[in-house]
Amino acid sequence: MFIHRRKGWEIAGSRVTPEAAMLRRRAVLGGAAGALAAAGMGRKARAWSLFDSTPAAPPAVLAPLAAQRDPRYLAGRPLTPAAAVESYNNFYEFGDGKDIAGAAQALKTAPWTVTIAGMVKTPRTLGLDDLLRQVKLEERVYRHRCVEAWAMTVPWIGFPLADLVKLAEPLGSATFVKFTTLADPRQMPGLHKPWYPWPYTEGLTMQEAMNDLAFLSVGMYGKTLPPQDGAPLRLTVPWKYGFKSAKSIVRVEFTNMQPQTFWEQLQDSEYGFWANVNPAVPHPRWSQAQERLIGTDEMVPTQIWNGYGEFVAAMYADKTKERLFA
Ligand code: MTE
Repeated sequence: MFIHRRKGWEIAGSRVTPEAAMLRRRAVLGGAAGALAAAGMGRKARAWSLFDSTPAAPPAVLAPLAAQRDPRYLAGRPLTPAAAVESYNNFYEFGDGKDIAGAAQALKTAPWTVTIAGMVKTPRTLGLDDLLRQVKLEERVYRHRCVEAWAMTVPWIGFPLADLVKLAEPLGSATFVKFTTLADPRQMPGLHKPWYPWPYTEGLTMQEAMNDLAFLSVGMYGKTLPPQDGAPLRLTVPWKYGFKSAKSIVRVEFTNMQPQTFWEQLQDSEYGFWANVNPAVPHPRWSQAQERLIGTDEMVPTQIWNGYGEFVAAMYADKTKERLFA
């Protein structure tokens, strides 16, 4: 899902998509490295290509995590095997491909803090352990739909985002929540790619954040989250395309301005703020009518709001002028 704004040194036509265009992408990046070298930036180009092939750190140790399944949300299809979910990822801080799990093992997930900032009663920084002592974990089996037209079914463990919002005590004037994720170039090789607008940021309206479906995940498949899936704390908003579900969150800010997101900054026309799933609204470069289930490669019809309309559609009834689906 990558499109980047052209800088002076970039080769023409370096428009890149994931998946179908991955091979083309590799060729483009090769070309970009050449362009960098030609522009006297060869050392930098070599640095990030080396980082991309850094051997994996030892696998992260995942602690068992037990939580009761919330019976209200039914996925209506089998769970995706954990091994598939853990080996087919988007996490650009660790690389542009789907095979970033090895590189992500280097992510240090403890100690971890989350800063609550902006329009709140008391801005503060909380240790993740402290935060988790104040919430009740549950398991939610959600459909997970990427804008690239692949999908999974995942048993997330976490707590409603609304619980964090309540703990944060936002001022009545706050209308949006902005999420900022870790950006540490010592741990994350992707940070050396300067054309991305790091750090990865995402945002929701306050109303969306308070919707019961909006979830903060700390685990999946009965264990703490693997680094490649956004450990130790990630957003999970199943009625929206997967890029809204920011991984490895370090800051939650309450604001009265619509946050600028990572993907909007890269290519607003393709990855807008709302990004609700809709089979009838194609991505500018591919159809969204169907999705490929990771694990089996079965093609199934995409559902509007990813099948969660009864829980979320009413939030958008008055937003007729917004570009809600792309
Ligand atoms: N969060 C961060 N910090 N960095 C990312 O690159 N990718 C997003 C989202 N969250 C991303 C991120 C995209 S494009 C998708 S589809 C999902 O994470 C993928 O989640 P998964 O790898 O757990 O399936």
